[in-house]
Amino acid sequence: MTITFVGHGYVGLVTAAVFADFGNKVYVIGHTPEKIDNLKKGIIPMYEPGLEELVKKNVDAGRLLFTLDYDPAIAESEIVFIAVGTPPQKTGDAQLSTVFEVAEKIAKNLKSHTVIATKSTVPVGTNKRIVKLVEENKPENATFEIASVPEFLREGTAIEDTLHPDRVVIGTGSEEARKKLEELHSPIDAPILNTTIETAELIKYAANSFLATKISFANAIAKLSEAVGADGLGVLDGVGLDKRIGRQFLYPGVGYGGSCFPKDVKALISIAGDHDYDFSLLDQVEEINKQAKRDIVRKARKVLGDMKGKKIAVFGLAFKPNTDDMRDAPSIDIIELLKQEGVSISAFDPKARETAQKVIHDIEFASEMYECVKDANLLLVLTDWNEFKEADLGKIKSLMKEPNIIDGRNIYDPQKTREMGFSYIGVGR
Ligand code: UDX
Repeated sequence: MTITFVGHGYVGLVTAAVFADFGNKVYVIGHTPEKIDNLKKGIIPMYEPGLEELVKKNVDAGRLLFTLDYDPAIAESEIVFIAVGTPPQKTGDAQLSTVFEVAEKIAKNLKSHTVIATKSTVPVGTNKRIVKLVEENKPENATFEIASVPEFLREGTAIEDTLHPDRVVIGTGSEEARKKLEELHSPIDAPILNTTIETAELIKYAANSFLATKISFANAIAKLSEAVGADGLGVLDGVGLDKRIGRQFLYPGVGYGGSCFPKDVKALISIAGDHDYDFSLLDQVEEINKQAKRDIVRKARKVLGDMKGKKIAVFGLAFKPNTDDMRDAPSIDIIELLKQEGVSISAFDPKARETAQKVIHDIEFASEMYECVKDANLLLVLTDWNEFKEADLGKIKSLMKEPNIIDGRNIYDPQKTREMGFSYIGVGR
């Protein structure tokens, strides 16, 4: 089958590469010449395990074609995916201007019968607006169907998640579009949920908001456990073993970040507000998430007393391991709060140094972890990279000025680190 993806962010690029690998001819349309030139050479704009190899393999096989032009990609394609970003506006609403611009361009290039499928996370009702826009701009004899096919992949495991998703959601009112999309997804072994467009649109926001709620719940239980002297991780093990609840996404830490949870929680609050529903549960989810970040700074104050002039070594800047993505990374807010207290900061991240330098200023970026901890009064873990889990803590201790650890991701064993002579504070432990 010939298909097109408009957009080459995480969702567009990963899904396009996977569908090309299944043997389809896949066009990927972008709008920045430099980025498209790089992609043609197999140079990808982000770090994602396995993606560069997969892109290269399918570019070399002639199945994955990057272009700036809608012609002939749209005319040749049976399915066109819209996979452009929908970043939050100041109001919390998703910004939809790119989605609509792209829909208009697709419309103008339609030739025969085409399925237009939205992968971008868009508020309920957006696909109906896309239909209207396409109808107004398409050539008279061209016909189309619309579908909402939300994406659930996670950064860091994006290829695996695309190949083995828990479900494929196909939201459409058209039997023909549903069949085409089922055919395209047939190599993927996952249950297909056929539903209406509005339901599919809402599933994505509901799923991400629920996962964010789980994390905030875990952070609240961790805080309470610290107060009552319980082992928060033990409590969450006990809770998570209940199959109805599950252990996943119940890990307390420095708060959730990334390109989806913060934005989608905000957007769902705003969607609810537009329909006169006050989704106050999600207000609290956001508040607890902010608190998780402030708590780390409170703990640093507790360890160091007057923080002015002290040096803090930060392990990890990306919002989670195996990515260089800094979007809404908790490290940004935590480092800002620490800087206000007058500390000097040296930070190390195995992959996110370059992306972090664009958003975090006036700190030192160490090129490796042992250099980072030199003469530090406190080591602060903000991202749970394997590299940090496997670090030589004896060496770290010998390099630090004072052996203090605040482990924002609970990666070290409290007892062992204390036996080594560290003062150790985790989250909920
Ligand atoms: C998320 C969703 O998981 C995915 O389905 C959707 O398509 C996009 O958004 P992603 O943003 O890549 O994926 O990361 P995810 O692994 O979900 O983690 C999000 C944030 O939550 C990270 O900051 C992570 O550190 C944090 N987290 C996750 C916790 O603090 N505790 C947990 O138990 C799980």
